[in-house]
Amino acid sequence: MDRLCVVIGYGPGIGAAVARRFAAAGFAVRGLCRSPDRHAALAGPGVTLGAVDAADAAAVAASIPAGTEVLVYNAYAAHLAPPSAQTAATLAADFAVNVGGAMAAIGAALPGMRAAGRGSILLTGGGLALDPTPWLPAASLAIGKAGLRSLALTLHAELAPEGIHAGMVTVDGAVAPGTPFDPDRIAEAYLDLHRDPPGGFRAETVFRG
Ligand SMILES: NC(=O)c1ccc[n+]([C@@H]2O[C@H](COP(=O)([O-])OP(=O)(O)OC[C@H]3O[C@@H](n4cnc5c(N)ncnc54)[C@H](OP(=O)(O)O)[C@@H]3O)[C@@H](O)[C@H]2O)c1
Repeated sequence: MDRLCVVIGYGPGIGAAVARRFAAAGFAVRGLCRSPDRHAALAGPGVTLGAVDAADAAAVAASIPAGTEVLVYNAYAAHLAPPSAQTAATLAADFAVNVGGAMAAIGAALPGMRAAGRGSILLTGGGLALDPTPWLPAASLAIGKAGLRSLALTLHAELAPEGIHAGMVTVDGAVAPGTPFDPDRIAEAYLDLHRDPPGGFRAETVFRG
């Protein structure tokens, strides 16, 4: 059976780069986003696409195939407004994508990983989790990324003794080809984390300018 990697939040930047990298490493990759047709031209050999809205926890859970060895959560949402102009509704809606979708995917993938005694759960973080002040209109995203980082680090501590590697790739800068934040360079970090040996799992890789 093919080794399976699922990327939720498939798109032209990090999502597609991670999918390409795992496909090149021999994985069958399932890329999921709301509008797969929009991104179909990006999907090379070994990558198939499907539709899911990460805000819909039940749909996310149903989209995780049995036997998923690597789960990458890359979807994000932001109502662009400074913190004083956010509302309970904007925070909740963005949190549902930034963290809720990850939790739903993890809940669906974990039983299979536990049965196999291995697997990786790799979440895409942002520099706003480390310092939320440089870009105030992204306040709701910053709250989500802080929550996602907390989830990654706590899951890491909980699951490492079971041989399951939860971790985060934190991107503290603007993703663009040919820069220190080149998506292909960032994608390599996900595969590196997945290849960490049990007992040597790292919790986080941070890309800084
Ligand atoms: N770009 C940056 O400069 C930067 C900097 C720091 C951190 N990051 C983080 O890195 C990750 C990837 O960013 P990227 O810019 O490289 O994006 P990307 O991987 O090119 O694309 C992400 C994809 O997520 C999909 N998506 C968005 N909302 C979704 C939802 N509700 N359900 C399912 N899929 C959804 C979108 O496709 P659909 O519209 O088809 O759903 C989008 O194409 C994000 O978590 C982001 O916060 C990015």
